[in-house]
Amino acid sequence: MYRTNTCGELRLSDVNKTVTLAGWVQRIRKMGGMTFVDLRDRYGITQLAFNQETNADMFEQANRLGREYVLQATGVVRERYSKNAQLPTGEIEIEVSALHILNAAVTPPFTIEDETDGGDDLRMKYRYLDLRRQCVRANLELRHKMAFEVRRYLDEHGFLEVETPVLVNSTPEGARDFVVPSRMNPGQFYALPQSPQILKQLLMVSGFDRYFQIVKCFRDEDLRADRQPEFTQIDCEMSFVEQEDVLNMFEGMSRHLFKVIKGIDLPKLPRMTWQDAMKYYGSDKPDTRFDMRFVELMDVLKGYGFSVFDNAAYIGGICAKGAASYTRKQIDQLTEFVKRPQIGAKGLVYARIEADGTVKSSVDKFYTQEVLQQLKAAFEAEAGDLILILSGDDAMKTRKQLCELRLEMGNQLGLRDKNKYSCLWVIDFPMYEWSEEEGRLMAMHHPFTAPKPEDIPLLDTDPASVRANAYDMVINGVEVGGGSIRIHDAGLQQKVFEILGFTPEKAQQKFGFLMNAFKYGAPPHGGLAYGLDRFVSLFAGLDSIRDCIAFPKNNQGRDVMLGAPGIIDQSQLDELDLIVKTKDADK
Ligand code: AMO
Repeated sequence: MYRTNTCGELRLSDVNKTVTLAGWVQRIRKMGGMTFVDLRDRYGITQLAFNQETNADMFEQANRLGREYVLQATGVVRERYSKNAQLPTGEIEIEVSALHILNAAVTPPFTIEDETDGGDDLRMKYRYLDLRRQCVRANLELRHKMAFEVRRYLDEHGFLEVETPVLVNSTPEGARDFVVPSRMNPGQFYALPQSPQILKQLLMVSGFDRYFQIVKCFRDEDLRADRQPEFTQIDCEMSFVEQEDVLNMFEGMSRHLFKVIKGIDLPKLPRMTWQDAMKYYGSDKPDTRFDMRFVELMDVLKGYGFSVFDNAAYIGGICAKGAASYTRKQIDQLTEFVKRPQIGAKGLVYARIEADGTVKSSVDKFYTQEVLQQLKAAFEAEAGDLILILSGDDAMKTRKQLCELRLEMGNQLGLRDKNKYSCLWVIDFPMYEWSEEEGRLMAMHHPFTAPKPEDIPLLDTDPASVRANAYDMVINGVEVGGGSIRIHDAGLQQKVFEILGFTPEKAQQKFGFLMNAFKYGAPPHGGLAYGLDRFVSLFAGLDSIRDCIAFPKNNQGRDVMLGAPGIIDQSQLDELDLIVKTKDADK
């Protein structure tokens, strides 16, 4: 037997027991005639004690150990003389009588501590060492627990986990595909699934009724803190349901997770239309941990000779409670913030509510105190508040800029506490959005989403105004999940493809099997998918989903530990009938 106990479980009640532990050397402290070694495993840390006087041989051996050596130590549990209240095992230590070095270790390139000295790149290169750190491992333990509870909940509600293939077909729309060349079919490619969307719909046609899968999805898109090229979905689909049924089922799942993992009783989730989300927060994923809603000011501020506002298509602002004490310098920094190319505003107007209730603004010369009081009333602002205003010639763009400013003010005023959760459903998304790049309407969610029944006639007259039976779950400004009621009628599906610019031939070629399947009795169905990585990150309070993925990619989409992607041998290329044009693929 390698060990009788783990390094995290021994307590005062175990004193005098003889135990054997195995683990890694976390730290060695030499204190004259005593040497202490912290032995670490997945479960915790236990102190091994070596006394020169009582066991000189052991003491010698201990002094030759190095960090991250793998040890097996046998000894008696003793009460510690100086206890460590920070450690669950801090009241005891092991007086070692036998020590085996199971493996020596070279000094790791960074310290295996929560507060490590290793930078991001180094830790990613040696991710297997990074994963030894307790704080990193805790994120993966949380991930396991969440996936487990998801399975428990869905199983209890009659969902079947069905695996769908990873080598599938390239589908238009959505993000770029990752493709895999087929050796047996030269010149042809599989694509990795961006999601199992079509397959889960086909499972509904097959009568599976309630499906789920915790599944890897692949998207070749620009990476951000909440995006990885391969990520995990909790993918779900149900038959004979309406939107209400789907929302209730998955609100229930979120409630279950919040309760068992975080001990939080989630209140009934509010629902906000996409229109309102854009109007009041400038985002389809509003962070509702704090209020600071947009107020539109076209009526209040237009027509007083301030040309920036007079010529604007949109003027809107936010009221930061208690921020009137912001200095000129702080406001200049906010102006610089909104003028950054990533945000792109031209400038920022502010108005302070003074202690006596008067309003002082950066554009005082255009506005009388009377108008400024109307401004104050529009926000229901009080003495000590700071109003920040943006304007622009494109309402949607300006709202998005104001959204960034709102989030920044939320950060600065400490209103985005990671331990506080605010969840909601955003519903009634538009079916389509205009793509400047493509010069056509694109599906906002995906082409299989059903329009709201009452909007179906608009498909012929004004498709851009059609609303979809689509919904997203948003937590703290993060889109954790999204889905829709699907089209289950071949004719309607055909029409939606047409609006998206597919010729009947192309639609047939790409989705013929789906439309065909619909002819064999497709039940009404709908579903959604959560991003597991995002859900775990929210629960763990992480800034990036990378930290809850065992072996993530960096921002260039590289796995620096594996050296992937890499070049492949000429013989492999020949077998695949491929010619690589660029030769610096291994940079
Ligand atoms: P959607 O594209 O909205 O819907 O994806 C569902 C959820 O997956 C997560 N997600 C990501 N997480 C990490 N990295 C990424 N690159 C990434 N992309 C998406 C998000 C998102 O809410 N088939 C539909 C679902 C459905 O209609 O049932 C779909 O894939 O949390």
